[in-house]
Amino acid sequence: MKRFITGVFSCAAMSLMIGLCAPVANAKVVKVTLTAMESDVVIDNRGTKYAAWTYDGMIPGKLVRATVGDQIDVTLINPKTNKKSHSIDFHAAEVDMLNEFGSVRPGHNRHFVFKAGRAGVYMYHCASNPLAEHIARGMFGVIIIDPKRFSKAYPKPDREYVLVQSQFFPDADNVVDMVENRGWTHALINGKPFNFDPIHDGNSTRALMSKPGERVRIFFVNANINMPVSFHPVAGIWDRVYVNGNPDNVLKNVQTYGVPVAGASTFDLVSPAGRSTNNALIDHTMSAEMRGASTLLINVPGADPGMGKGDKILIR
Ligand code: CU
Ligand code: CU
Repeated sequence: MKRFITGVFSCAAMSLMIGLCAPVANAKVVKVTLTAMESDVVIDNRGTKYAAWTYDGMIPGKLVRATVGDQIDVTLINPKTNKKSHSIDFHAAEVDMLNEFGSVRPGHNRHFVFKAGRAGVYMYHCASNPLAEHIARGMFGVIIIDPKRFSKAYPKPDREYVLVQSQFFPDADNVVDMVENRGWTHALINGKPFNFDPIHDGNSTRALMSKPGERVRIFFVNANINMPVSFHPVAGIWDRVYVNGNPDNVLKNVQTYGVPVAGASTFDLVSPAGRSTNNALIDHTMSAEMRGASTLLINVPGADPGMGKGDKILIR
């Protein structure tokens, strides 16, 4: 008992002094409702439609964001108009895969709660069979678990962007091709090849933006079926790489860093102050880069102040 009381008092005292013990009252409940949808989505900058399976009609699904200690309250809806069973597998959750992540038949829902225990950037995806098809058709997204505070090791960024890379298999029913890694024609970034790259795709009208010298934080998720990613900033060097997005796992001064299938990491880029520059954030694996895995980052004094903030962090 004495040890318990001592622990409580030391924690309270320390939290007053250096804020190490976050008060439990700060933890919040983050409600996430996802609806499985079997419907067409636009899959390139020209407006081509594709018979996708998605969460809420978007590739990737909505960005879920919470802070360490929060409770994530998840509801998955599989409308009775769907033909397939679907599910939700959050890589940030430490639960029972046969329970929380189990398949939900059309006309049914699933509800569960998990604790955001470890800071990082994580994939979520449908885990129903055949897994390759459910992911390749678009059932994936991102959950960021922020640490409770910024620190010297994990400074506050000026802008944040989420990029999700995936493989596009136009023959959407051909699971054998997906498993054998045949027939993929494009690398998608947030659902489209060259989504933010007007240099490589004349139909692309957008790019990521920052001001010279700003710290731009990229939350990068590899939602490919089979291909690891070699993430590289052309004309730049990653100032920091946080493996799995966790502030404890910091690397400095890195040219290219690998992101395994179904993995994610956080990448900080600080462009030179005092001059305008451009970077291309690419998968240096040529089969992916030339098929769409290239994103332009424009660093100019007049950068749109809203880009990389608020609802402009995960742009589709
Ligand atoms: Cu599914
Ligand atoms: Cu997974």
